[in-house]
Amino acid sequence: MTTLIPVGMAGLGRYVPERRLTNQDLEKLVDTSDDWIVQRTGIRERRIAAPDQVTSTLALNAARLALADARMEPDEIDLVICATVTGDQPFPATACRLGLDLGCKRAGGFDLGAACSGFVFSSQVAAGMIQSGQAKNILVVGAEILSRILDYSDRNTCELFGDGAGAAVYTSLERAGRGEFLGGSIGMEGGAEGILAQPAGGSRHPATASTVEQKLHYMKMGGTKVFRFAVRVFAELVQGVIDKYGRDQIGVIVPHQVNQRIIESAMEQLSMPMDSVFCNIDRYGNTSAASVPIALREALEAGRLQKGKLVVMPAFGAGMAWGHLLLRW
Ligand code: UT7
Repeated sequence: MTTLIPVGMAGLGRYVPERRLTNQDLEKLVDTSDDWIVQRTGIRERRIAAPDQVTSTLALNAARLALADARMEPDEIDLVICATVTGDQPFPATACRLGLDLGCKRAGGFDLGAACSGFVFSSQVAAGMIQSGQAKNILVVGAEILSRILDYSDRNTCELFGDGAGAAVYTSLERAGRGEFLGGSIGMEGGAEGILAQPAGGSRHPATASTVEQKLHYMKMGGTKVFRFAVRVFAELVQGVIDKYGRDQIGVIVPHQVNQRIIESAMEQLSMPMDSVFCNIDRYGNTSAASVPIALREALEAGRLQKGKLVVMPAFGAGMAWGHLLLRW
């Protein structure tokens, strides 16, 4: 039997575009109010990419910071994985553009499409490849420009989402010296494909004048069903970690930033205080695959990642796809 190489997270970076879209700005676009949005979601503002930015631009900014944090040169990277559902275009992969722009001369690259669970899934793929010796250093980026697939006349969706990117560099634990990969999960629940989706632009509904006229290229969501699903899965995933390692081992939970009320409901179900969880949803909204790495970087800067303690990252979203990533910091 071959021995697995222990894996760590050597670097972390985040980037959000400068432009802020506030709840007051949204009041001018749809029939909503700052009060409603804050009470129902906890969101106060979200960032919007500039017209000349594409998803790989955001990813590039986050990735440069992650590489610098890891003290690693781009040509040391063996593989670039970009988790996104709003890539530069359907193909080629945004990871290939990103790898070229970064100067990752030896790397291969591919995108991973798992919506809000994308970073958590990609991190497990990366860790598995390093553990098995197939790669030494892997860059994982979660990057989204959701504002390009939102309908700013649909109040069911437009207040919830924002743009941004977060990146992590995985390597051997020996080199990283922190962020030991302990595992995670990758799951899915069928029968719910239509609850959260971008209906057109793929083989089911190829883009036509008619699909555009019907606004099927925009995100559609049945919010309440997603809400219930997210609370249940969040609580189950964290409970699984508690059962295995014990409650006192958990340093911080850095969940997908989905909705403040979802996070609060799940924490209540777990009988855990809100100071065990890191939230930044008030400033960025839900940035899908970018939300966990952006929050993780900010948790690090805020001194919330405690040496030797567990960092639990549950994520859930379209698919319905769910899973978690577990590190010991
Ligand atoms: O990563 C996963 C991505 N998905 C999500 O994060 C979505 C999760 N779901 C949610 O966050 C919540 O379901 C929402 C925030 C989307 C909605 O909250 P809710 O408590 O489930 O509200 P609701 O849809 O049941 O709507 C309550 C009321 C309705 O009015 P009536 O029927 O009670 O008169 C809606 O029409 O609020 C109304 N409403 C709004 N009012 C002002 C819905 N959206 C808005 C809005 N502004 N933006």
